[in-house]
Amino acid sequence: MTEPLKIAIAGLGTVGAGVLKLLAKNGELVAQRAGRRLTVTAVSARDKKRDRGVDISALKWFDDAAAMAQEADADVIVELVGGSDGIAKKVCETAIARGRHVITANKALLAIHGTALARAAEAKDVSLGYEAAVAGGIPVIKAVREGLAGNRIQRIYGILNGTCNYILTQMRKTGRAFEDVLADAQKLGYAEADPSFDVDGIDAAHKLAVLAALAFGTEVNFKGVHIEGIRHVSPMDLDYAKELGYRVKLLGVARMTEHGLEQRVHPCMVPLETPIADVEDVFNAVVAEGDFVGNAVFEGRGAGAGPTASAVLSDLVDLARGRRAPTFGVPVDSLARPPVSPMEKRRGSYYIRLMVVDRPGVIADVTAVLRDESVSLEAMLQRGRSPNETVPVVLTTHDTEEAAMNRALKKIGASSHVRETPRAIRIEAL
Ligand SMILES: NC(=O)c1ccc[n+]([C@@H]2O[C@H](COP(=O)([O-])OP(=O)(O)OC[C@H]3O[C@@H](n4cnc5c(N)ncnc54)[C@H](OP(=O)(O)O)[C@@H]3O)[C@@H](O)[C@H]2O)c1
Repeated sequence: MTEPLKIAIAGLGTVGAGVLKLLAKNGELVAQRAGRRLTVTAVSARDKKRDRGVDISALKWFDDAAAMAQEADADVIVELVGGSDGIAKKVCETAIARGRHVITANKALLAIHGTALARAAEAKDVSLGYEAAVAGGIPVIKAVREGLAGNRIQRIYGILNGTCNYILTQMRKTGRAFEDVLADAQKLGYAEADPSFDVDGIDAAHKLAVLAALAFGTEVNFKGVHIEGIRHVSPMDLDYAKELGYRVKLLGVARMTEHGLEQRVHPCMVPLETPIADVEDVFNAVVAEGDFVGNAVFEGRGAGAGPTASAVLSDLVDLARGRRAPTFGVPVDSLARPPVSPMEKRRGSYYIRLMVVDRPGVIADVTAVLRDESVSLEAMLQRGRSPNETVPVVLTTHDTEEAAMNRALKKIGASSHVRETPRAIRIEAL
């Protein structure tokens, strides 16, 4: 066997310790597959004394992860600290400048600085691997970059945040409100103490921006992602979705349109008969639509020590074998910079829920507004009647432009008969 691939790991939390455990358990098998040993030589974290459930006594310890990136006896630096800036960025930049390969699970860093890091890596002729950064254990980066390399990707979408998917699944199954289920998810360790990155859609948007860059050969444009989270989704909407033949999922969707690159993260109604509707709890899924392959569906665990370590290993084995690929599939200078397709241009159908005072003429007023904005109705549901009390009225529309839908919702929301802000959920044609 040739020389081992020497690895230094910054960050020994959930993922970092997971990588060490995987190598301890499957090291022989991985060496066989890679054709050489994968040897961890150095590590860095904040607290040297913390028990990480794995023996690190033989490894060189660095208090300063950036110093490790500079000085360690390593071919590759694995960054598993996290955060879009600060030490994680410094570690990656230092390693690249020093001519070492980098592997990271850090979607926040890639979403903001991905293009610059890819450019730096290319200039130094080193690899920047990030299989673990998108959809955890699902090998979707490799699948898109290599497995689907012959295809023009028409749309790529997925359930990219396990916390949100868990919360929506539990809300639907138990009928409980968002806050209740979130509190449970926090107790179970599925949601952070500050859940905003997850439930407000930011984490999914980070991953979508990275995935879109790879799928469409564009620079990473996180600022171009339209982001909405799941805080406003109510159990009532989940019930109505079922009645209408849908399930509500937080989707990240990217596609190239005549107006530019559309990237959006928001709750969607997806048809019950589609594979993505059945992806439940903490699972993730990605669907890539290629012009020759058709739909390719990938499903699996999007987070956790084991799945994420598995993805890090995929990048490590590639390096050990000497397999290299451009970070986003093409040389950085070839990455396109398409305009952002404005959300107002999105065409599709909508679910709308209104809480209205049950009086004669109210529905006629609502339909008149929709007609004035050329929004055509597909279906209407009104459960129970209760004169002079507030009742839900649910509408679904045919395909319309988002700008028209927004104008209509604004007018409807201003009516004295409508007692709460109208709720709209986009219906995704899949
Ligand atoms: N957890 C997942 O399931 C998952 C899935 C996909 C991607 N990721 C990504 O993987 C990365 C790591 O996530 P994680 O869940 O493993 O995080 P974590 O459990 O919070 O671990 C972070 C590690 O970084 C270390 N660290 C913090 N500041 C440091 C510094 N200044 N210098 C050196 N080390 C420092 C911490 O040291 P101490 O242990 O000493 O405090 C800890 O070991 C993040 O980018 C995350 O987004 C995570």
